[in-house]
Amino acid sequence: MEQKIALVTGGNRSIGLETARQLAQQGVHVIIGSRRRGQGVEAAMQLQLQGLSVETVELDVSSRNSIVAAADEIARRHGRLDILVNNAGILGDAPGSASQQSVSDWRLVFDTNLFGVIELTQALLPLLHKSPAGRIVNVSSVLGSISLHATPGALDAFKNISAYNVSKSALNAWTLHLAYELRDTAIKVNAIHPGYVKSDMNKGGGELDIPTGARTSVELALIGSEGPSGSFSHLGETLPW
Ligand SMILES: NC(=O)c1ccc[n+]([C@@H]2O[C@H](COP(=O)([O-])OP(=O)(O)OC[C@H]3O[C@@H](n4cnc5c(N)ncnc54)[C@H](OP(=O)(O)O)[C@@H]3O)[C@@H](O)[C@H]2O)c1
Repeated sequence: MEQKIALVTGGNRSIGLETARQLAQQGVHVIIGSRRRGQGVEAAMQLQLQGLSVETVELDVSSRNSIVAAADEIARRHGRLDILVNNAGILGDAPGSASQQSVSDWRLVFDTNLFGVIELTQALLPLLHKSPAGRIVNVSSVLGSISLHATPGALDAFKNISAYNVSKSALNAWTLHLAYELRDTAIKVNAIHPGYVKSDMNKGGGELDIPTGARTSVELALIGSEGPSGSFSHLGETLPW
C-alpha cells in the first residue's frame, strides 16, 4: 500500500504540530502547512529528528495566492492528497460580544476560520479525488454548537468570543454541506472539537494536554471506509450541532 500523504494547516505549533507528529507516527507522510516558512522548517526538522516522515509548505490560509501556490506545490511534489486537516484557526485580535466585536475583527476571524478552509479545500479537492480514500477533518469547536448556545447557561462563559464561535458554527454547517455533496465519492468530511486544550490559543488556560487535543483530528483523519462522514465529535463522542 502507498504511504498516505496528509496536509495539516497551522502545523508549525500547538495542536497542529502534535497532529502532524501523531499522523507521522502512524506511518503517514505529513506536510506541515505554516504561514511562516522558517517556523514550518523548524517544526518539520523537529519531527524529522524523531525519525518521522515530514516536510513543509508555506501556507497562509487567509491568502488566495498562498493557497494556490501551496496546492500547486503539493500537486507537483505528490500528485495527490489523502488527508487534509483544516487545523489553522484564530480567536481574533479583539474578541468581544455579538454587538461589540468590530466588523473588521469578524472579517479577520472568518477569513481564517471559514473562508480559508473553504478556499483551501476547494483548491485541494482535485488532489483529494485522486486518493482512494480522501479524508477532510475540519477542526471546529464545541463553541460552534448552536444547540448548546441555545441552551440557557450552557456556554455563557464563552459568549465574549462571538466571531470565533459563529465562525465555527458556519464551519460546522459547511462541513455538512460538503459531506452531502461528496456523499457518493471516496472522500469523507468531518468536523471535530479537540477539547479545551492547553495550547498557545488559551494562554495558559485549558484542561487537556496537547497530545490529547490532537487525538480526535488524528482519529477522524485515519477512519476507514466504514467511518462517518458529516459528523461532529470529540474523543469518540458525538457532539450536538
Ligand atoms: N485550544 C483549544 O482549546 C481549542 C478548542 C477548540 C477548538 N480549537 C481549534 O483548534 C485549532 C488549533 O488551535 P490551537 O489551540 O492549536 O491554536 P494556536 O495555539 O493559536 O495555534 C494556531 C495555529 O494556527 C496557525 N494559523 C493561524 N492563522 C493562520 C493562517 N492565516 N494561515 C495559516 N496558519 C494559521 C498558527 O500559525 P502561526 O504560528 O503562524 O500563528 C498556529 O500554527 C484551531 O482551529 C482552534 O480554533 C482549539
